[in-house]
Amino acid sequence: MSVHPFSSEHLQALRADTPAAERSIHLNNAGASLVPGPVQEAVQHYLAEEAQGGGYETAARRASDIQAFYPQLARLFGGMPSQYAYCSSATDAFNKALSSLPVRAGDTWLTTRHDYASNQIALLQASERFGLRLLVARDREEGGVDPDDLQRLLRLHKPRLVVVTQVPSHTGLVQPVAEIGQLCRAAGAWYLVDGCQAAGQLDLDLPALGCDFFAATFRKFLRGPRGAGFLYVSERVLHAGLAPLYLDLHSARWTATDRFRALGDARRFELWERSYALMLGAAAALAYAESIGMPAIETRVKRLAARLRELLRALPGCRVLDRGSELSGIVAVQLEHSEPGIMDELRTAGIHTSIAYGNYAQYTMAAQGVPWALRLSPHYYNTEEELAHTAAAIGRMIRS
Ligand SMILES: Cc1ncc(COP(=O)(O)O)c(C=O)c1O
Repeated sequence: MSVHPFSSEHLQALRADTPAAERSIHLNNAGASLVPGPVQEAVQHYLAEEAQGGGYETAARRASDIQAFYPQLARLFGGMPSQYAYCSSATDAFNKALSSLPVRAGDTWLTTRHDYASNQIALLQASERFGLRLLVARDREEGGVDPDDLQRLLRLHKPRLVVVTQVPSHTGLVQPVAEIGQLCRAAGAWYLVDGCQAAGQLDLDLPALGCDFFAATFRKFLRGPRGAGFLYVSERVLHAGLAPLYLDLHSARWTATDRFRALGDARRFELWERSYALMLGAAAALAYAESIGMPAIETRVKRLAARLRELLRALPGCRVLDRGSELSGIVAVQLEHSEPGIMDELRTAGIHTSIAYGNYAQYTMAAQGVPWALRLSPHYYNTEEELAHTAAAIGRMIRS
């Protein structure tokens, strides 16, 4: 029987898969979402099997289930299964991509003002170690990177790499990554997209983005377990033979005493050891998202976030910080007469949110003197009633 996505009947069924959604108002999906039942079961069953049957023996018995992780990724995000690598987090995926790039002193790398703090730190460290020049593209008036400025910098400085976070962590922006992909292709620059907050929230076709690397995690909008992520790489990356520092006996073969050969597919970005329980949980999360449909998920997440912004804007003393021509499911607000401890107060009231700190967003929040913001991130299983309840609670806390 087909159900209309997010009809009250469908929503009820989705929430029944996530019993914790009835015990709290979980608006911290940009931190870590609540995992649905099938994800929890996949992880727990596998661990139980390992406990009974041994780690290596269970991996051999469940080999085909484990391998299904790769085609499942390709079904949801496009491309071929051979273009995906299992990683332990988005940062792990990002750093492996970065470490695979050839560098020469004097090379230029280009990024934006909204890139994730860990990425910025890695870029700064790389530029210090290898003598690279790091450039940052300007923003448009309405917020978000200005593709014209990015193109100007591409022409003028010929960067070897462009790095963009598609959905920044600290504000509700969606960066125009497909448009930037075209610019990078035209300029012959490698293109690394941090899709950590985008995967599971936006309907994505990774080959169509024109990126060479796409790094993501499972615990956020994909609703998978913690400690799991993935890296997508373009055919161009595979053909060029890019491989991360350092390879191991899974990602490469030791062919003679003085020789090795990296694997031909994206598994060269993996290491031998990983949790197969998490891999199966991640595959279950992908199947769960697929069963709902990414276009419907994107529409609902954006609609709920827009409604939440509307409710919060109406509160005296509450300023919505999100700016940009396309907004995501992340809502960031600055609250008058409040401290970050409001997050704990809300948690005590059964409402889960998080704090975005200015020092994690040096180009934007810190530069504008915004030391922190309350971050709220609804997912499709949240309800309009939960949003209204949350806005009312914040309104009371600001006044008290
Ligand atoms: C935009 C963005 N990129 C990367 C990361 C890092 O993800 P992970 O903790 O899985 O490495 C985060 C985490 O919040 C994020 O929001």
